[in-house]
Amino acid sequence: MANVVVVGAQWGDEGKGKIVDWLSEQADVVVRFQGGHNAGHTLVIGDKVYKLSLLPSGVVRPSKLSVIGNGVVLDPHALAAEVERLSEQGVSISRDNLRVAENATLILSIHRELDALRESGSAGTKIGTTKRGIGPAYEDKVGRRAIRLMDLADLPSLREKIDRLLTHHNALRRGFGLDEFKPEEIYEELASVAPKVLPYMDAVWRLLDDERRAGKRILFEGAQGALLDVDHGTYPFVTSSNTVAGQAATGSGLGPGGVGYVLGIAKAYTTRVGEGPFPTELHDETGELIGRKGKEFGVVTGRKRRCGWFDATLVRQTVRTSGIDGIALTKLDILDGFETIKIGVGYRLDGQTIDYFPASQGAQGRVEPIYEEFEGWSGSTAGARSWADLPAQAVKYVRRIEELIGAPVAVLSTSPEREDTILMKNPFEG
Ligand code: IMO
Ligand code: MG
Repeated sequence: MANVVVVGAQWGDEGKGKIVDWLSEQADVVVRFQGGHNAGHTLVIGDKVYKLSLLPSGVVRPSKLSVIGNGVVLDPHALAAEVERLSEQGVSISRDNLRVAENATLILSIHRELDALRESGSAGTKIGTTKRGIGPAYEDKVGRRAIRLMDLADLPSLREKIDRLLTHHNALRRGFGLDEFKPEEIYEELASVAPKVLPYMDAVWRLLDDERRAGKRILFEGAQGALLDVDHGTYPFVTSSNTVAGQAATGSGLGPGGVGYVLGIAKAYTTRVGEGPFPTELHDETGELIGRKGKEFGVVTGRKRRCGWFDATLVRQTVRTSGIDGIALTKLDILDGFETIKIGVGYRLDGQTIDYFPASQGAQGRVEPIYEEFEGWSGSTAGARSWADLPAQAVKYVRRIEELIGAPVAVLSTSPEREDTILMKNPFEG
């Protein structure tokens, strides 16, 4: 029996939502294990479009159990709102199909405010975050002063925890010349939402272990991408969690043996939102065209995504840091009709040729991509459902990518529709 973890192999927005939804048909349990409502996963099912930020994608399918693991930072108000929004779309959510880890860290309004303050430029580096409070919440978790979901079940001792948290945050606020937070306001913010989220609370580590022992198939749904990983990404222009596949174990409470097949999702080109290095970025008409054809606007923040050529050097690296067994390649159809297509195959750095992405911020900003030029294809790949439907040159492009990144393309997605998917290897069959 194999479980599958799906992770982004670039800077997020690789099309994980569709692939997770597609795989969830074969899964019994779908688990989020890191990040929070900074994610934006779009699912197109028939004539319905679902946009999920915090809930696992399995939630739209009846009879699947969705789990939010301890590695996630949870904004309880965002959870309540998303549950409500989906109910309006006809998706019913209850304890029967949703569980949230009791030990998940909560995102509070103070985290959102701090995130926005730092992004405003008056306080340090601008990262281009989603301003959801993700970073500040993870800081408090690691700083051992966070409020966790289970704390909402013990309101009398919540006040004490809030006082401890505010000792830290109000010192920061004073430093920034801002008004202090009042404990009573934070208490109200939490006490009011507690009845909406506590019904889902569970010991997720135990639940998942039971499911695994019962032979159930678990699908781990990563958010963001390996290049936004706090350790392995383009630090400091990263998110505040580990986004690589190893986090699926830690962020859910299952041991590493429970993770199984690692499916990396990569776009047939590259995009990035927010600040930070991006070697193959295009600042010209071609970049604009990719963005327009690919509808490259953020689901969460509506920001325009930066676009560029496929960077095989980067994906080759994330294949290793995430232990990727196979790739799901998405949005190949966006490259339909391009006369020439380029692939980044290595870098030049200070007069040297290198075959990896250096770790230092300075070097990451200085590398210049070495390109391989590729003849485009005139036919269409959009909506293709078998290899035979693809123009020969498009097949060649995919084969070249496989060679360069050192991993096979297991799944090829040719439109946002669930059915427009070509399967080379079923990840659940190991
Ligand atoms: P999905 O799951 C793309 C980026 C932000 C910013 C950096 C830090 O849809 O692929 P944060 O708010 O996390 O502290 O922001 O990370 N970022 C994403 N980029 N897709 C995402 O999620 C992202 N989540 C965060 O733009 O550069
Ligand atoms: Mg997104």
